[in-house]
This record gives sequence, structure tokens and C-alpha cells, in this order.
Amino acid sequence: MASLFSLLALFVFSALHYSSCVNGGETHSRFHSITLDSLQPSDTCSSMPTALDGNRLPIVHRHGPCSPFTNRRKINHKQTLRHDLARVNSLHRKHSVSKKKDVTSRFSTNVTIPDRVGLPLSTMDYIVTVGYGTPTKNFSVIFDTGSDISWIQCKPCVGECYPQHDQLFDPSQSSTYANVSCSSDDCSLIGGTCDTSNVCIYTVQYGDGSYSAGFFAQETLTLTPSSILKKFEFGCGELNQGLFGSVAGLIGLGRNKVSLASQASPVYGKAFSYCLPEFNGTTGFLTIGAQQQYPGVKFTPMLTNPSYPSFYFVELIGISVGGHNLSIPPTVFASPGTIIDSGTVLTYLPPTAYSALRDKFRSLMTSYKMAPPFDILDTCYDFRGESVIIIPALELQFGGGVTLEISFSGTLLSLSPSQTCLTFVPTQSDDEFSIIGNLQQRSTEVVYDLENEMIGFGPELSCS
Ligand SMILES: *[C@@H]1O[C@H](CO)[C@@H](O)[C@H](O)[C@H]1NC(C)=O
Ligand SMILES: *[C@@H]1O[C@H](CO)[C@@H](O)[C@H](O)[C@H]1NC(C)=O
Ligand SMILES: *[C@@H]1O[C@H](CO)[C@@H](O)[C@H](O)[C@H]1NC(C)=O
Ligand SMILES: *[C@@H]1O[C@H](CO)[C@@H](O)[C@H](O)[C@H]1NC(C)=O
Ligand SMILES: *[C@@H]1O[C@H](CO)[C@@H](O)[C@H](O)[C@H]1NC(C)=O
Repeated sequence: MASLFSLLALFVFSALHYSSCVNGGETHSRFHSITLDSLQPSDTCSSMPTALDGNRLPIVHRHGPCSPFTNRRKINHKQTLRHDLARVNSLHRKHSVSKKKDVTSRFSTNVTIPDRVGLPLSTMDYIVTVGYGTPTKNFSVIFDTGSDISWIQCKPCVGECYPQHDQLFDPSQSSTYANVSCSSDDCSLIGGTCDTSNVCIYTVQYGDGSYSAGFFAQETLTLTPSSILKKFEFGCGELNQGLFGSVAGLIGLGRNKVSLASQASPVYGKAFSYCLPEFNGTTGFLTIGAQQQYPGVKFTPMLTNPSYPSFYFVELIGISVGGHNLSIPPTVFASPGTIIDSGTVLTYLPPTAYSALRDKFRSLMTSYKMAPPFDILDTCYDFRGESVIIIPALELQFGGGVTLEISFSGTLLSLSPSQTCLTFVPTQSDDEFSIIGNLQQRSTEVVYDLENEMIGFGPELSCS
């Protein structure tokens, strides 16, 4: 017997999307409806990741049936929420913690972790496979729009490496590996230090205490057989510790000059895009470089905040619930703004905006039985016994007349058969920027047009 939990969380559903007019036309009510009767239980990967055309890489869910990892962890929702909050707290920190961690003892070089903004990684559940070296070897890595330096764990792990799924990268087995000199501009840009032989040492520390340190190096990066980036600067991690799971490392897609997005720009064009899979049994894609066109994608300006130079800010101006625009003063969103982030799970809104959304959502959901709150999620339902669930459609509205329609699975998260909760939460105060998290971005192509400084959203369920 399949529980509602597993039905909602794991299986393909038939999503009907319809509009209906209420009260003769003025108010345009919109709902999502999902039926549970036609669903087939399955824990298999419905679309095996295959190398896609050009510069498109398949994205799979780290713990799902399409993942290359065999030791799939069962999701601990409470822990995920804790880690998500830790990431959000470190995103909000302008100048990072001054707590310096001394990691020198096990690494031959004199490394101290600098004060830089760090993000916990444990909530990053989407992975891609890229090739490093010549001959190329595959590595499964997470990707992060909230940080810049890309790195993988490297042999001989002078310091320490955590267990990973792939074999460790061995620079001595690659003909294209080269250390970056500590006198290079990029070494100073990343706040690198020098080892005794004038090699640049990088260190990154993430908000949950995880870190990676090692040689800043150049290598051939194979994204797909037809898109190969030479002299890609990355971190060859000789001392790595933390909540990275089984991944070999990370691809940074932030706005800094050393991110993959920036380094690939001269060759492939100044853009990247991704589509996160809606369920963990399907695949999405990550595209590095500009496409000829983006069918159906609507663009809103990408904003910059000098206090947070690596982050992608967007102009969120309003929210609609079930077709009703919430009356939220525009000033609530205007400052300090909103970022879009691949590594945050939930969407965090200023308390004023959040309560307006929650109240409207609840008022349109009165036919369902409410369930107790779960941790920071305060709007939960018990859908046991229901066969069709109709929920109000949620839309985020952006400058330029662009809307992001949130799918059913981006609106509600099933935690247990008796508890399915709204996936939006308030920030600690109206002074903290909002964050559009990855649950809300699933199944929509998100385009980062760095050339024209625009962020684009494809239509809902447009990923395949
Ligand atoms: C992904 O799928 C697997 C098995 O199909 C399941 O055990 C796991 O909990 C799922 N993860 C999420 C995040 O839904
Ligand atoms: C690397 O992975 C891709 C698909 O992600 C696959 O097509 C290719 O054969 C793999 N290469 C090696 C050397 O294993
Ligand atoms: C590490 O560097 C600091 C200053 O940068 C220095 O005081 C210390 O002696 C060095 N430690 C070692 C083991 O070289
Ligand atoms: C890179 O630098 C490290 C540390 O100095 C050294 O052990 C290694 O041989 C260098 N690799 C290359 C290819 O120069
Ligand atoms: C709701 O807001 C959007 C975006 O600002 C606007 O285009 C639309 O006309 C508004 N709808 C109503 C019914 O006010």
C-alpha cells in the first residue's frame, strides 16, 4: 500500500492546471489540482541521465534513483531544515564570521581559513557529472550559484579527504594539470596564500564548518564531449572536511571572475541555465554558455548588490495566491531585495510578505484538515483520505511583467502521510533579503544571462 507521502514525494503525478472565473469574472481564481488515483508507485529512474547535446549536462537528485551514488540516505526533514537555516544565516552575513579555523596541522602548507562568506552545502541535493584532466575522468559534483571557487578532492590528500563515490583525482596522472602561481591576479582575487614553492593555496570555508583547502590549479574541464574548457582554474583539494556526502567536489556558479560561469564566458558565451528535476526519479539539465534562443523564457533584470557581489539579485515585486494579488507594500521587497539561489531549499520572504501569503493560502484551503506545524513550517495539512487535492496556484511577480509559476511540488512538501506543509518561511526580519529557493525553481528552466544582466524563467513544467 503506497502512502500519500510516497505518492506525493516520489511519483509522477498528473498535474492539471486550470483557471476558473469566480463571481462573474472580476476575480480570476487559479488552482492546481492533482489526482492521486492514477499514480503508479516507482522507485526507478524514469529518465536515465544520458549525455545531452552540446553543453547540456544532466542534473540528478543526489538521493534519488537516478543518482550514481548507491548509499542513498533517507531524507531527514528536520535536519534539512536546520541546514537550510544555517545556509540562509550565512547568506545573510555580509562579512563572514571572524572565527578562524586553523587547518594547518594536517596540511603541509600554512593554511588558515580566511574570513569569507561561506554557505553550508548539505542542502545541495542536485549533482552533475563533469570530467577533469587528460585523459578525462568523471566526477560527480554539486553546483552552487551562491559561491565561486570550483574544487574537487585531490590525491594524495596530504591533509585529509572525506570518502567520495568517484576515485580521487590524481594530478600526476593528467598531462594538462598545472599549479597556479601565487603571484597571479586570480590568486589574490581568491585571497590565496603562497606555499614554499610559490604555488597558490586556496581555502574555502562553508557556513556549516565544512571546508576545502589545497592547490589552486589549472586543468582541462570536460563538460560534455563537445564542450571542453582548457586551463580551467579550480581548487585541487588536499584538505577537505564536512557535509559533502559522496560528491567529489563543487562547481561554483557565482558572479565572481573565477566561477565556472565567468571562466566559460569567453568560450561559450556569458550565460548559463538549469532546470532542476521536479522529482528525484527524473533528470534535469545544466547548460553552460549562451544558447541561440530560449523558447518561452521571460526575462527580468538581474540586479547587483555591492555588499553581496557573488549573488544574483532579482526584482521581486509581488505575489499572487489563487489569482489574487496580495496587498504587500512594494517597499517590503525593494530593500534589501531578493536573491535567487540554487542551494537554498525553501523560499524565505520578509515577515510582512510571508504572513500575507500564508493567510491567503490558508483561507483558500479551508476544506482541508490542518496538521500541526513542523519546525519552521507553520502551515501544514493532513491529506489522508483525499483522492484529489486542489491548491491555489502561487505566482511570484518580477519587474518587467515576468511571473514565476510555482508547481504543486514547489508549493507543498510532504513530510509524512499526515503532514504536508507550505514551503515558504519568513526571514528573521524585514531587513534581510528574500531568497527564492530550489524547491520553487524545480521544473522551470532558470536562465542566467550574464551578458544582458537578466534572469529568465521558462514556463512551468517546461524542463524535459
Ligand atoms: C528519492 O527517492 C528515493 C527512492 O525512490 C527515496 O528513498 C528518497 O526519500 C527520495 N528523496 C526525496 C528527497 O524525495
Ligand atoms: C563520463 O560520463 C558521461 C555521462 O555523464 C559518459 O557519457 C562518459 O562515458 C563518462 N566518461 C568516462 C571516462 O567514464
Ligand atoms: C604560519 O603563518 C603565520 C603567519 O602567517 C606564522 O606566524 C606561523 O609561524 C606560520 N606557521 C608555520 C608552521 O609555518
Ligand atoms: C604543484 O605544487 C605542489 C606543491 O608545491 C607540488 O608538489 C606539485 O608537484 C606541483 N605540481 C606540478 C604539476 O607542478
Ligand atoms: C496583479 O499584479 C500583476 C503584476 O503586478 C498585474 O499585472 C495584474 O494586473 C494584477 N492583477 C489584478 C487583478 O490586480
